[in-house]
Amino acid sequence: MTKRRPLIAGNWKMHKTAQEARDFAMGFQEKVGDVTDIDMVVCAPFTALHVLKEELEESIVHIGAQNMYPEVKGAYTGEVSGPMLLDLACTYVVLGHSERREYLKEDDGFIAKKVKVALELGLIPILCVGENLALREDGKALAFVRSQVEKDLMELGPDELRKVVIAYEPIWAIGTGKTASAQDAQEMCSGIRSTLAGIAGSVAQEIRILYGGSVKSGNIADLMAQPDIDGALVGGASLEVQEFAQLIQNAR
Ligand code: PGA
Repeated sequence: MTKRRPLIAGNWKMHKTAQEARDFAMGFQEKVGDVTDIDMVVCAPFTALHVLKEELEESIVHIGAQNMYPEVKGAYTGEVSGPMLLDLACTYVVLGHSERREYLKEDDGFIAKKVKVALELGLIPILCVGENLALREDGKALAFVRSQVEKDLMELGPDELRKVVIAYEPIWAIGTGKTASAQDAQEMCSGIRSTLAGIAGSVAQEIRILYGGSVKSGNIADLMAQPDIDGALVGGASLEVQEFAQLIQNAR
C-alpha cells in the first residue's frame, strides 16, 4: 500500500494581524523545528502572508492561503490570484471551505475551477467538503460528500488528482467542540477514498485525506490512528503556538 505523508494544516480563518502572525511564526518555528515526518502548513489571512514569507520561507513550515480567485489576473475587484500567492511563498491554498460555501455562496462549479487553476499554477489545493447536521441526521452524509468530491474534482486528470488534498469537515463539528468520533470520521474518509477510486483508480491510494472539525491536541492521536485519515485541518487549535505545537507532537 502507498505510504501517504501526514499533513497537519492550520486554518487561522479571520484571525491575527500581521504582527500577531509574526509573533506566532517565531514561537512556532522554535517548537516544531525538529518535525521532519509530518508536513505542516499555516493557512493565514492574505494580509499576514507577507510576514509569514519573511519568517517561514526558509523553514520546514509551509505557508498557505485560505482562498484564491480562479483567474490569474484581471478586473476582479477585491480578489487575489494564484500568482500573487506564489509570490508570497504560498505552497497550499484552502478551497471550498464550508464557511465560504455558506456565507459567500460559493458553489461546486466555481470551486472546481479554483481547484483546477491552483493545480495548473503549482499550488496544492486543500479542498474542503462536509455535510451539515440535517443531512447527517437524514443518513445522507456520505451521498452528499461523494457528490461534492465528484463535482469539485471533475476537471482533473490523474496527475493533477494525486496532488490534491481533501479535507473532510462535517459542518456540525466545526468550531462547536463536537468532534466526529474517530470511527465516524474514518467511515466518511474511507467513503471519500472509494469515491476517489471511482474517479482516479489506484491514484486514490496516494491522495491525502484530512479530517477537520474541533481537532485538538487531545483528540488528534485517535484520528491519526485511522487508516484513511492522513492528517487534520485545524481551526481554533491552530491559533496558539503551544497548543498547535502540542497537537503536532501528538499526531506523530
Ligand atoms: P475548528 O475549525 O478546528 O475550529 O473546528 C476547523 C475548520 O473549519 O477548518
